Order: sequence, then structure tokens, then C-alpha cells
Amino acid sequence: MFYPEELIEEVRVRNDIVDIISPYVSLKKSGSRYTGLCPFHNEKTPSFSVSQRDQLYYCFGCHAGGNVYTFLQKYENMTFPEAIRVLADRAGITLPEMEMTEEMKQKRNRRQRLFEINNVAAKYFYYQLRSERGELGKHYFEERKLSAETQKKFGLGYSLQYSDDLIRYLRKEGYTDDVIRDAGLGIFEEREGMRDKFINRVMFPIQDQNGKVIGFGGRVMGEGEPKYLNSPETEIFEKRKNLYGLHLARSSRAKQFILCEGYMDVISMHQAGFTQAVASLGTAFTPEQAMLLKRFGKDIYLAYDSDGAGTNAALKAVAILREAGISARVIDMRPYKDPDEFIKNLGQEEYQKRIDEAENGFLFEIRILRKGYQTDDPAEKTKFETEVARKLCVFTDELERGNYLNTVAEQYGIPKDSLKKKVISEASIGGLKDDRERFVKRERDRQRESGAQENAKYAQRLLLTWLSEEPERYSRIRDYIGVNDFTDPLYRRIAERMLPGLEDGSFQAAAIIDLFEELEDQQAASRVFHTRLDVADDEKEKAFRDIVIRIKQDSVAHDSADLGVDIGALDRVLAAKKVLEKLQRMERL
Ligand code: CTP
Ligand code: MN
Repeated sequence: MFYPEELIEEVRVRNDIVDIISPYVSLKKSGSRYTGLCPFHNEKTPSFSVSQRDQLYYCFGCHAGGNVYTFLQKYENMTFPEAIRVLADRAGITLPEMEMTEEMKQKRNRRQRLFEINNVAAKYFYYQLRSERGELGKHYFEERKLSAETQKKFGLGYSLQYSDDLIRYLRKEGYTDDVIRDAGLGIFEEREGMRDKFINRVMFPIQDQNGKVIGFGGRVMGEGEPKYLNSPETEIFEKRKNLYGLHLARSSRAKQFILCEGYMDVISMHQAGFTQAVASLGTAFTPEQAMLLKRFGKDIYLAYDSDGAGTNAALKAVAILREAGISARVIDMRPYKDPDEFIKNLGQEEYQKRIDEAENGFLFEIRILRKGYQTDDPAEKTKFETEVARKLCVFTDELERGNYLNTVAEQYGIPKDSLKKKVISEASIGGLKDDRERFVKRERDRQRESGAQENAKYAQRLLLTWLSEEPERYSRIRDYIGVNDFTDPLYRRIAERMLPGLEDGSFQAAAIIDLFEELEDQQAASRVFHTRLDVADDEKEKAFRDIVIRIKQDSVAHDSADLGVDIGALDRVLAAKKVLEKLQRMERL
């Protein structure tokens, strides 16, 4: 490693893992841990767990895991030096200037190169729009009533009709074909070689929250497919983690963000003075984006299209925002389709009124739900009311739930007391369902592991887990088990650090993670410290003894295989056999 270990360790302990992860994942306390939706894979029920005691996170779904360093490296695509810099800054620790290793330089260079080439391309498109050759683009934006000032503010541009115009320019500026392709600005084709990704389109540079260009959307002028072409995902362009217009909207004085569906909506809103508008990047709104917005501590209003697709998208966004702990409001733009059309027809003042009248997200959900039922039919009405009761269960705060219940009951003429009773019965059915799911999952895990139980590797892992949960047990095995008994290379490296730490009381799970340079190893190691022992109290002592014996047996077998090649092996095998016999005679350790 590159900084002294003590420094790495100091920076780590001065940054609590819950504080570091909270801005990215909506965490709920659950027993001694925090849980939430995993940011590293798609899921609907939380399997991401953060342990404050161990200062580690682990996902039971995708097995991502590690400490604060691992998290930032994975989530923010940082290098280790970048991660330690951020964490040291947070903790007010000054890092010494350090030489970078070749590998670090390369990774950093690659990202910098991507930022750079996107910036150069953005300037090029910008310039072309304003040149003689940019007539078509100019005309298009004029038609759409975008002022010169607005075009400038969003850095709008134009890509020419030639098939390799940008590529030739970039090569001239010293960029290799590899970088051009990695940035998604050029496409390699078997027959023709490299060609431009964006041809004859008006260009919308996409900027991150700090204003750096990370990719592009290119729109056809008029009809044509696809309407928008977007840069592919790259190391710096992650659609689910960025929002169009955020670099401007973050400093708006409005008390809320307005989330729109498209680039054009954002632009025409800004032009009308609504500088709080943002949009997702050609994909559905994500939990990552919700957490990103949450960091600015403002309310969030939705301005999605008034059609069926827009309504569905808004329903999903409301749910995602609620999961992130944000209650959204929904702006009604009828009879117009989107903010762009609305403002063009009714103007800025009318739009402001719609913002002021925006509907509570939950009440919006109920209103849409109601449309699916013919409530003049008593049977349908009952179904609707049951569904309302079920939905009210999302509020775990009693007071909040009560307020929503009262409002909904009044709005839809449902007797309050009956609705309240219904909520209680729905909540307990929901609870039962939850329990059953958890039970099934636990059984599945148990079965999977019982197959592996035969093998010693599993026993080694279990012992490490056990010792991290109950370090006081170490004194009972220290005479029988040593580092050499861990035959699995990964577990051996953990044991090398852990056993001496248990000896002198300095053991810290999160520090051990830093021993591993590969993220994969870090994940496997965090799994060790994040597994729950699931042994009934009255079976504990027997299980503990069995594990220790299994490890010892395996270690003997392992050393026996080396007999004849390794002269030290015989002594070790004989000694180990003695220990093994002793262990087998003992009823408990
Ligand atoms: N989008 C996309 N690819 C497409 C169509 C849409 O990435 N083929 C994304 C773009 O981010 C677009 C958003 O979805 O901004 C909304 O789509 P749409 O409403 O069709 O476009 P607008 O932004 O409203 O643009 P316009 O007003 O020109 O129709
Ligand atoms: Mn639109």
C-alpha cells in the first residue's frame, strides 16, 4: 500500500461508515445493523446491510462488501488515493504528498482523459452550431423558441452531416481511436472502420453536478428514429447516478427541485425562470438519483407528461422517492402534455400557480388508483377501499398514517373507523407475508450452505465469523488452532491478521479489509464478518468443537500430502495429530 498503514487506519476510523453510506443509500436501523436497497444491484427488498460495530457493509444479494474505502471506490468509481483524499478531508486530516503508482496514474488518467475528450467534443459541437455549417441546427432551436442565451447556458451544439467529422478533429487534437471509442463518441465498424456516433443531430451535452461534461444526447431534427441518441455508459457517464440540469438547479433559490421527463422540458423551464428543473437521462428515475437529490435537502415536485406513460412513470418515481424518505408532490399540467407545451401556451405565471397547487404524491397515487374501480358498484368500492388500506400501510409512523387516513377517508367518503380497522387487518396480513418470505429465504440459505458444510473451507470461514462475533472464545482455542491451520489462502490472510489481534485485543474487522487489494477479495472478506451465526444456544458448544475439529482434520490431511517433499511436514503432522486426538477426547473446548 501506498500510504502508511497507520494513516490509512486513522482516516478510516475517523469516518463512520453509516455517515459515509447514508448519502447514497436510504438506511433503516434494524437491530444492530442498518439495512437498505443495495446500490450495486437491482432489488426491491433490502439485502444490503451496514454494521456500525464492524464498520463494514455487505450485500446478501450480490455479495458486494467492504469498508468505507471499498464503498467509495465502487460507488464513485474512485481510485484508492481519491477515496482516502475525500475521507481525510472529511475528517480534517492532512495527507502527505505521495508519489502515485503506475496503475493509479493509469486509472486516473483514463478518467481524466474521458472528461477531457467529452469537453473537447462539447466545444466542437458548440462551435459548429454557431458556424456557417450549423444552419440546420440553428434553425431547429429557433423553431423551438430557445433564445441564444438559453442555448449558451446549456452548451447546446450541433453534429455535422459527415460520418467522421468529429473523429477527424479529435485525432488531430491527439486522441487515440481507443479513447474515442471508450468515450462512446466513435463507433467501430468492421467494414468502414471508425465512424462518428452522432451525425446530423442537435447536441445536448450532459453535465455532472459539478458541471463537467460526461456524455451527450443528440436529437434528430424533426421526425426520425431514434429521436434521441445518447452516449453509452462509461466510467464517467453513469445514467442512473446523474441528472440533467442538476449543476444549474442545485443553486436555484426555489425551495424545491422539479423533476421532468426530458431534456427539452428542463431547458424550456429554465428559460421561463424555473431554474430548479432537472431530468433523468433517458432512463426511468432511479433510487440513486433520489439519494443524490436528497443531499440538497429540498422538496421534490414531479412534472411528468400528462399521458398514461407519464402517469405511470410518476407513480414509480413517487414510490422511489418515498423509499428514500422524501415525500413528493405532483404538478398537474393538463390539458397540456409537458412543461414545454404548457409554458408556451399559458406562460410562466400560470405554471407557477400549478407548482403552488401541486398534489401530494400519496393522494396522487390514490386518485389514480380510484380510476381503476367503478365505485358506484359496492363490490368494486370495497376492493378500492381495501387497496387504499393496504397502501396506507406504507406509513410506519402512526401519526403520519393517521393524517393520511383522515384525508383519504374524507376525500372518498370512506367511514374513518372502518378504514382504520381495515388498515390494522391489512398490516397484519402484510406482516405475516413478510415473515413467510424471510423464513423461505433462511431455509434456502441453510440448504445451500449445508452442501458446503462438508468442506473445510466452510468451517474456516465459520470459525472466523464466530471469533469476530464472540472474540472471547479465542482463548479457548489458541492452544489448538493457529494461522497454519487455515488452508484456504484468503482465510489464511484474514487469520494472519485476526489471531494476533485477538491475542492482544486490537482486532478490528474493518482494518482487515484493507489488506486485500482486489475488490473481490475485500468482498469475500467482508462476508466473513457479516455473516450471522445461526446456531441455537444449546447446540453452540458442540458446533464450536465440531468446527475446530474439522479444521484441524483438514489441516492434518493437507500437511500429510506434503510428507516426503517438505522435511518440516512430518513434525507438524505428528504434533497436529496429537492435538486432534486431544480435541476429540474433549466434550467441549
Ligand atoms: N429519450 C431517449 N431516447 C429516446 C427518446 C427519449 O433517451 N429515443 C429520453 C430523453 O432523455 C428525452 C426524454 O427521454 O429527453 C423524454 O422523451 P420525450 O418526451 O420524447 O422528449 P423531450 O425531451 O420531451 O423532447 P421533445 O420536446 O423534443 O419531444
Ligand atoms: Mn417530452
